[in-house]
Parts: sequence; structure tokens; C-alpha cells
Amino acid sequence: MTQTSYAGLADRVVLITGGASGIGAAFVRAFAGQGARVAFLDIDETAGSALAAEVAAASRAAPLFVPCDLLDIDSLRAAMAQVHRTLGDVAVLVNNAANDQRQVLADVTPAEFDWTIGVNFKHVFFAAQAIVPQMQARGGGSIINMSSIAWMRGAPALPVYAAAKAAIVGFTNSLARSVGPDRIRVNAIAPGMVITERQRRLWYPNEQTIAELRTRQAIPDAVTPEDIARMALFLASDESQRITSQCFRVDGGLA
Ligand SMILES: NC(=O)c1ccc[n+]([C@@H]2O[C@H](COP(=O)([O-])OP(=O)(O)OC[C@H]3O[C@@H](n4cnc5c(N)ncnc54)[C@H](O)[C@@H]3O)[C@@H](O)[C@H]2O)c1
Repeated sequence: MTQTSYAGLADRVVLITGGASGIGAAFVRAFAGQGARVAFLDIDETAGSALAAEVAAASRAAPLFVPCDLLDIDSLRAAMAQVHRTLGDVAVLVNNAANDQRQVLADVTPAEFDWTIGVNFKHVFFAAQAIVPQMQARGGGSIINMSSIAWMRGAPALPVYAAAKAAIVGFTNSLARSVGPDRIRVNAIAPGMVITERQRRLWYPNEQTIAELRTRQAIPDAVTPEDIARMALFLASDESQRITSQCFRVDGGLA
């Protein structure tokens, strides 16, 4: 991936949730490529260990992979404490983990509702809550929360996911106000259609559907995980030091 080099990111501690695959893996590679000290959490131990080994071989600092189920807030806190003990105060938190399981409105049970909010929003709140004191201690930081265009456009098969992704923007704006005086910036990224391996396998097995959806973009090219990572690098870097409380669409201008 061609990317701008942000000198300030070298040696910074960057924590990425859901970093083992998809866009999260692009974040791990991109921040490691900047010389940052990267830690990532994920429930997928196989993919996480493989990515950690791959990135360790290609970067000057091996990333720290901590397996963790983010639905369990005690586990999240324990994993974050391990990262803190090992690498020190976190400068950049990327709240990326999610699950866009399709749902039918009439079939969503209270348990499924709670699961969907848990996997898409609850950990975002508690990861940010745990990281703020570390960022205060180091005099600032950048929190990047992954939203989605799903809630802006109205996605009928994602009623709870879309609500969670909208909640992330509300939380982003609230948190940005409360921690701004500590020079902690909080922004969101809303990707458009990014065809990762998982997306292709589960939701877009058909090239024609992808091509049709792409005609709704102003720019017809595929939006890649690396495109999303470029925005994350910018928001993490000092080049964006006066930017906070924003949600950036990276979607090729999807209508
Ligand atoms: N791919 C897209 O087109 C798209 C579009 C809009 C928004 N987004 C958002 O961008 C982010 C990344 O998207 P993606 O497509 O790479 O997502 P993904 O579902 O492929 O990957 C998310 C990662 O989170 C991990 N994860 C899931 N549940 C977990 C849990 N309980 N504990 C720990 N880890 C868990 C997965 O193992 C995976 O590595 C997500 O927040 C997603 O909502 C993606």
C-alpha cells in the first residue's frame, strides 16, 4: 500500500480492536508500517496469530496480539491492561470490531438485540472509557470509532447494526466534547462498500451485485481496506490536530 509517512506516528502505541482480519488487518499493517507499536485484540485467534507473525516479519516492531471476546467487558479490560503493561500509555485507539450479521426485523429477539448492540457498540464505549486516563497521562491522543454508511442510507437488513453505528457517532460527538480539553480527539469513519474476504463470502458472492452497487458511487473504483486505513492514519497523526467530533465518509461518494 502506498501511504504518506507520518513521522509522529513512529513509536506511538496504537490499539486496534478487531484487528485480525478485514479492514482491521489493514489498520494493523498500516500503523506497523509507520513504525508505531501496534497492539490488536480479536476473537479470531488463528487469523490474529497469523497476522501478527506476518507483520512481525515485515516491520521493525512486532505487533502484540491479545485474543479477546469483546462481548465480555471484563475480558476487554483485562486485555487492555495487558497492552498497557506491555507497551505503556496508548496514544491511538481504533474501535473497529463489529459484526454486520443480517437480521429480519420481526425475528430479532431481545437476546439477539443485546448481542448486536454488544458486538457493535458496547465495547466501543468501554474501550474508550478505559483509554482516556492513559491519553490524559500522556497529554493527548486520538480515538477513531468505526461507524458505517449503513445508518445514513437506511439498510433494511441491518436494523440493530445500523442503530449501533449511529450510536457510535452520537458517542463520538459527546466524548469529543468531554475530553477535548485534554487534547484527546475523537472522530468516526463511515466506510461505504468495502469488499473484504468476509463480505464477499457472506453478503456479496456475486460480482454483478457488486458492480451494480458500485454504479451508485460517484467514483466508480472499489473502496479498499487500504483507503480506510489512509483516513485512520491521518486522523491518528498530528496533521489532524484540530480535527475532532467529525464523522468522515470514505465511500467513493455513494448516493
Ligand atoms: N466492510 C464494509 O463494507 C464496511 C462498511 C461499513 C462499515 N464497516 C465497519 O468497518 C469496520 C471493519 O469492517 P470489516 O468489514 O473489516 O469487519 P469484519 O466483520 O470483517 O471484521 C471485524 C473484526 O472484528 C472481529 N470481531 C468480531 N466480533 C468480535 C468479538 N466479539 N470480539 C473480538 N473481536 C471480534 C472479527 O474477528 C474481525 O476480525 C467495522 O466496524 C464495520 O462495521 C465496514
